[in-house]
Amino acid sequence: MFLLPLSGTPQSLVNSLRNYCNLSLAEKLHKRFPDGEQYIRITSDMRNKIIIVVQSLYPEQDSKLVELYLALEALEGLNLTEVELVIPYMAYSRQDKRFLAGEPMSVKAVYMPLRLFNLRKILALDLHSPKIPEVIGLAIQNILPHTYMVKKVGIEVDFILAPDKGALHRARILAENIGKPFDYLEKYRDRITGEINVSIRELDVKNLRIAIVDDIVSTGGTLAKAAQILYDLGASKVYAVVTHALISEKTIQTLSASGLDMLITTNSILHPEALPKWIQVTDVGELLCSELKSL
Ligand code: R5P
Repeated sequence: MFLLPLSGTPQSLVNSLRNYCNLSLAEKLHKRFPDGEQYIRITSDMRNKIIIVVQSLYPEQDSKLVELYLALEALEGLNLTEVELVIPYMAYSRQDKRFLAGEPMSVKAVYMPLRLFNLRKILALDLHSPKIPEVIGLAIQNILPHTYMVKKVGIEVDFILAPDKGALHRARILAENIGKPFDYLEKYRDRITGEINVSIRELDVKNLRIAIVDDIVSTGGTLAKAAQILYDLGASKVYAVVTHALISEKTIQTLSASGLDMLITTNSILHPEALPKWIQVTDVGELLCSELKSL
C-alpha cells in the first residue's frame, strides 16, 4: 500500500500514518507555473496497489483543494482503481446550509466534484455536521476523535459540554465512552456581525472539571465565552477538546485571557511550531489508521 501525502498534510501525520499503516511513500512532482497555476505528476509505479491520498485543506484552502483535485485526476489517468482518500480537515464545511438568502451551500459547491472520481472510500476527521455526506451526495466515514484525545492526554473530567446544540453528538459520544454526564450550551451567532453569545441552561457545574467538545476553534470567541461563564458558575477546571485548531496569535491571546486550563487538539492541520504549554496537540495517525484498516 502507498501513501500519497499532499502539501496540506502535517509531516507528523504523514510519519505516523506511514508507521501505523506500514505504507510506502508515493513519489510526485509538484510545482507552480510562472502564472501561479499548479502542476502535479505522480512518478511512482503503483500498479495493482492501494493508494491512500491524504490532504488537509488548511491553510490556503483554495490552493489545497486544487492540488487535491489535480492529484485525483492524475491517479485516474494512471488507471489505478484502488484509491482511498483521507481528509483530516475539510475546509468550507461550516457553510453547509443557506443561513441567509443568496448564500451558497459552500460544502456542496466545493466537494460535489469528488463524486466524479472512483474512490474506494473517503475518511474525514470530525466533519462539521454529520449531514455533510448527504448534502454532497457521497459516502464519507466521519471519525470523531474526542475520546481518543482525552485518553491520550489523560485528563480527568466530570462533565462534558457541547458549545451549542449542533455539537451535541460529539458530547454524547465522549460522555458515553467515558461514562460521564453531558449537556449543551445555548449559542447564538449573529450572521451579519459574527458576534457570539453563549448562555448556560440550568446546569450545576460547581467544583466540576468540564470538557467542552467542538470541531473547530477559530477566533476562540465561542470557547472563551463558554469558559468565562463556566468559571463564574464555579467550575474547577475547563478543558477544550477541539479537533481542528485554526488558531492565530490573536486566538491564543483570547483563549489565554479566558483562563482556559487546556486546549487539546489534533495534528489534523499544521500548527505554528512554538505553542504555549496549555495547548496539547495529539497525533491522530494511529486513530485514522485503525479506521482505514477496519473499513
Ligand atoms: C461552529 O459552528 C463551530 O462548530 C465552532 O464552534 C466555531 O467555528 C468556533 O469558532 P470561533 O472559535 O471563531 O468561535
